[in-house]
Amino acid sequence: MPHQEKVRAALGRATREGVLGQDHPVVGFIDVQGVRDSVTALHEAFAHVPAVLHAFAVKACPLVPVLRLLADAGMGCEVASPGETRLALAAGFAPEHIVLDSPAKTRAEIREALTLGIALNADNLAELDRIDALRPDGSRSVIGLRVNPQVGGGTIAAMSTATPHSKFGVALDDPGARARVREAFRQRPWLTRLHAHVGSQGCPLPLIAKGLAALHRLAEEIDEYVGRRQITSLDLGGGLPVNFSDDSVTPTYHDYVQALTDTEPALLDGRYEVVTEFGRSLLAKNGFTAAVVEYVKESGGRRIALTHAGAQVAVRTVFMPDAWPVRITAHGPDGLPKTTRVVPQDVAGPLCFAGDVVAHERLLPELSEGDLVVLHDTGAYYFSAPWAYNSLPRPGVYGVLHRDGDVLLAPIRTPQTVAELVEESGATHTVALLTGFGSPGSS
Ligand SMILES: Cc1ncc(COP(=O)(O)O)c(C=O)c1O
Repeated sequence: MPHQEKVRAALGRATREGVLGQDHPVVGFIDVQGVRDSVTALHEAFAHVPAVLHAFAVKACPLVPVLRLLADAGMGCEVASPGETRLALAAGFAPEHIVLDSPAKTRAEIREALTLGIALNADNLAELDRIDALRPDGSRSVIGLRVNPQVGGGTIAAMSTATPHSKFGVALDDPGARARVREAFRQRPWLTRLHAHVGSQGCPLPLIAKGLAALHRLAEEIDEYVGRRQITSLDLGGGLPVNFSDDSVTPTYHDYVQALTDTEPALLDGRYEVVTEFGRSLLAKNGFTAAVVEYVKESGGRRIALTHAGAQVAVRTVFMPDAWPVRITAHGPDGLPKTTRVVPQDVAGPLCFAGDVVAHERLLPELSEGDLVVLHDTGAYYFSAPWAYNSLPRPGVYGVLHRDGDVLLAPIRTPQTVAELVEESGATHTVALLTGFGSPGSS
């Protein structure tokens, strides 16, 4: 079923069931079959590589039922905080299918991963020293080192992790760095993995391939230096860019594999086990956000729709509109596409700052109070990672299944209530600042 039809069907069901409307004016949706299809495409593209762990980057969609769906579809997962580790375990991922990255792991996090048998990639050489001290005898964790191949950035600086001054990994071209990395491996026979993540959205495939070719060559160099076959796996990170301008999936996972193979033919020849860490490319196009238009007004001759989708569900789009444009469609209260005349309109959110606008002067059918707007391709890093400004509640998220001409919804995340929000904002400590500051922790 074409994407736009799926969206219409889901909107119709959601408005009829009341999960989207006045009581719940902004909602996220995930297309269950779409997610499965994306995972299949990923597996197919790497089918010729003998040993691969495709680890979904949890940050892209930290919702337990989505993680469970991905586990069921044969994925592992990549985590980058104690919270993400717990989400992965709650979703049922086996520890050996979890990879822990993060540039600031505490000793407690490292100890937990090593005890459970979760793989981890040290961000720097100081972290390796900590691992030396914390690694229990017989730990089953695969341990790697993240390097920064310093091949440069893409079009979005904040998403580019292989720049000369990136905060991630060991900067390989810095004076003496390669020698220190080689020596770190020589001293630690249990260090068997190399990791790089060149960047995310905005990084073109040739740049990613160049960085991963450097990773492969480093692995060969280290093995030669230590005089044994020590590096057994390469963790290639994620970063396949997503096309946010129409329904087509481009580039594809096949394009990615082709780019890697063209640049470094031996990279995927099976000599090394491979880990991937894709996030956005698996989920973005399989999710959308729907929001109610609360009012429509004119300001300085411009039409503005005041909706309930703003920076709380689209923080990057609001603060960096050129880097993160989202497609928007206009629908009536029943979910059917609007057919009113097309005019330029700002689609604004509910937050109290002027920049809270998800689309500026966008050509859209004239919106009215009670209509719906859909923000497409927002299945990754949007409603699943809300921003708490203005104490807006986390919106509900629903899984969508299209079956036998019908559309079914299943709750993924219950909408946060205002009572929960008050509780989370310190309500149990209401008088804490008036009581003379008794003993620490008392309120
Ligand atoms: C180490 C690492 N791996 C994987 C990813 C996922 O990247 P993407 O969602 O672009 O595939 C990220 C994103 O920040 C990352 O930092």
